Amino acid sequence: MIIAIDGPAASGKSTVAREVARRLHFQYLDTGAMYRAVTWQALEDKVDVFDQSALQGLARRIPLRFEKSEGNDIDDKVLVGDHDVTALIRSPKISSMVSLVARVSGVRKVMVEKQRELAQGHDAVVEGRDIGTVVFPHADVKVFLTASTVERARRRSAEMESEGHCVDVHSLERELISRDTIDSQRRSGPLLRACDAHVVNTTDRTIEQVVAEIIKLCERS
Ligand code: CDP
Repeated sequence: MIIAIDGPAASGKSTVAREVARRLHFQYLDTGAMYRAVTWQALEDKVDVFDQSALQGLARRIPLRFEKSEGNDIDDKVLVGDHDVTALIRSPKISSMVSLVARVSGVRKVMVEKQRELAQGHDAVVEGRDIGTVVFPHADVKVFLTASTVERARRRSAEMESEGHCVDVHSLERELISRDTIDSQRRSGPLLRACDAHVVNTTDRTIEQVVAEIIKLCERS
């Protein structure tokens, strides 16, 4: 069974997708982490983010993999070769650049193939922007998470503050809007609700309520 969870930045996808995967004992695949890791490698290698063919080459070469972190039963650790980049790919710098890399169709083609390979033969919860539309258009359950921009910025700033980053909630809000605009307007695999996706607005709901609703959808399908 494939559960596709899509939605805009900071809509709660990761928290919810991880918890659903844990409870159902499914594999968890964070496709945003893959685009973030490619962006991290591009910055490391000083690849111009406007050089589409260099980015596609890098996406093909990058030895990207996931592992379970200690004491955890889902694949939440992101590695490039043996280098643990889990925290590095969440930096404000990567967040501000990732949509420029993710809009390159050559990069998306390579990533979509990897995503299908990684989930192949598993029951999986896969989260991203184009999972229900492009990566797994025949997913058994499709969910599109939304939340108000103010709430999304509030959640992301709380998350970043807890990780020791100093954040201004208004600039964070602008960053989320700018990322959503680039993600929604690109030609290849835009952020889009699949017509058969269940829309779940998480603004005034707890994680537990959202997780329970998704599990109920899975039991029905
Ligand atoms: O955690 P957050 O919602 O901020 O973002 P993410 O899921 O880590 O994704 C980071 C970025 O990767 C997005 O803003 C998109 O530009 C890109 N992305 C994508 O294009 N397609 C996906 N399936 C997942 C992420």
